[in-house]
Amino acid sequence: ETRLVSCVGFTMSARGLIEQAKRLAARRAVDDHIKDGQIVGIGSGSTVVYVAQRLAERVKEEGLNVTCIPTSFQAKNLIIDNNLALSDLDVHSKIDVTIDGCDECDADLNLIKGGGGCLLQEKIVAAASDKLIIVADYTKDSVYLGEQWKKGIPLEISSIGWKVVERKLNDLSIAWGSKTGLASVRMAIKKMGPVVTDNSNFIIDFNIGDLEEELRLKLPPKEIEVQLKSIPGILETGLFVKMAKQVYFGQNDGSVKTRA
Ligand code: 5RP
Repeated sequence: ETRLVSCVGFTMSARGLIEQAKRLAARRAVDDHIKDGQIVGIGSGSTVVYVAQRLAERVKEEGLNVTCIPTSFQAKNLIIDNNLALSDLDVHSKIDVTIDGCDECDADLNLIKGGGGCLLQEKIVAAASDKLIIVADYTKDSVYLGEQWKKGIPLEISSIGWKVVERKLNDLSIAWGSKTGLASVRMAIKKMGPVVTDNSNFIIDFNIGDLEEELRLKLPPKEIEVQLKSIPGILETGLFVKMAKQVYFGQNDGSVKTRA
């Protein structure tokens, strides 16, 4: 965190570089994809803050007219705080473009999402969108899912029977050949109780562990998703398989790399 890196003529902390990368990715994505008159899905997380800010700038500067659909309580507040037009899925069941963040993106544009616990609404909004555009910093760019994101796959689950789901997931990871797999309900600060989502559900972080390459190749993200969705009580998974159209990764040298 304290490492100082020389960047475009001045030094910045590693955290500062990541923040700059998020901002650059968000601004580029908004400028490349958002057009006047569109219905725009607003994702959740810290990178999307810059998406809302850039949209607000364009509303002021060019009179851009967009209607925004939130993916979470946080996103709704972002829309309101940036004076953007707020609507919802009941009014607009079809969205032109959604811009969201991710926790990890693989070489095939598969994503892990839900680090912030908003994955259920995020996936519904993504599924309603003609285009899902992802904005991230360079630390999220992986060859395969789980390469860098070690916290596991976030799963939104029913609060009823959460212990059953936890047990079934642990059995599943053993069946998959994992020696270190672990499913655990996400706890709030000081472990006083579970994190409760915007939809009054719990989150399980399902860490499959580091599978040997041979086992990993037998378990592509789609197969994992199908098996997870077959467990009663799992409402949605943070695996977004082949949903993203394009991903923008802000780099630590001030450039933006895209994958489509
Ligand atoms: C929330 C998400 C976020 O988009 C994801 O966690 C990335 O967040 P950040 O931009 O803060 O790194 O999926 O559920």
